[in-house]
Amino acid sequence: MMSFEEYLRSCFDDVSNPVEEAELYSLLNGGKRVRPNLLFSVLEGCEMKKSDGYPYAAAIEMIHTYSLIHDDLPAMDNDDYRRGKLSNHKVFGEAEAILAGDALLTKAFETAALPHKYAPEMIREIAKAAGDHGMVYGQILDLRNEKNPKAEASVLQEIDEFKTGELLALPLVLGGYLTGHTEDLPLLKKIGKTLGLAFQIQDDILDVTSSKEVLGKSTSDVENGKSTYVSVWGLKKARKYTEELFSDLYKMTGGLHFDSTELNDMIKRIEARKN
Ligand code: IPE
Ligand code: IPE
Ligand code: MG
Ligand code: MG
Ligand code: MG
Repeated sequence: MMSFEEYLRSCFDDVSNPVEEAELYSLLNGGKRVRPNLLFSVLEGCEMKKSDGYPYAAAIEMIHTYSLIHDDLPAMDNDDYRRGKLSNHKVFGEAEAILAGDALLTKAFETAALPHKYAPEMIREIAKAAGDHGMVYGQILDLRNEKNPKAEASVLQEIDEFKTGELLALPLVLGGYLTGHTEDLPLLKKIGKTLGLAFQIQDDILDVTSSKEVLGKSTSDVENGKSTYVSVWGLKKARKYTEELFSDLYKMTGGLHFDSTELNDMIKRIEARKN
């Protein structure tokens, strides 16, 4: 069986194409593949093959990678380092980094456009999670709340559930469609949004407690005046809230109508993450 990394690589056929070169620079090597692995954990819980999810997992990883390339641009977080190497715009320039992001977003739909009973539903979920009611919406809220030290917890929650939660919920929701467990779709979405919130608070904690070397990316939240649970609540309270969110998550997965052992293992691995 082809590995997921091999599959991702196989979605690109022309290395001499300058757009593909810039896309592959950021897509391959260095990503933790959290979102693909969440999708695979649902499939495995339903005794389906990981490879049944490759095109959808690849589509999500492409959109996620595009979001990182644009997130690092000088007009956004202005970060020079990502996935253990220079950011896309530091290597290819800003204009080409924007285009590489555009191309990854578009290729995601090309990759996921396959015949399936739920094809229209899944394509719509992918689009919604990415766009103006999804990740992009969260990113704009994040920018608008820069240098707002009094951001309310409800605003922080909205930022995180959209900028990060939508793309972390997407693999679970697509897993629900692919396994036919459509009765679990609302719960899968809720688990994904909660996991996204917890994941982003961890990211914000790591931004101020870890290093560029361990994280493989720049740390710039303080410099950028980002409003996060850490900046508003402090580390101790942010850590405690993260613990509560994870304990809620293990309760929630108990309500799913399939074997959630693999999914729980994934959540545990996320809970323990250092990068
Ligand atoms: C980074 O996501 C951006 C956030 C949503 C916090 P990941 O931590 O999953 O980054 P990669 O994919 O491993 O690079
Ligand atoms: C951004 O959050 C999440 C995205 C939608 C890309 P951050 O800006 O905190 O992500 P990092 O820390 O740069 O990975
Ligand atoms: Mg950002
Ligand atoms: Mg950033
Ligand atoms: Mg961050």
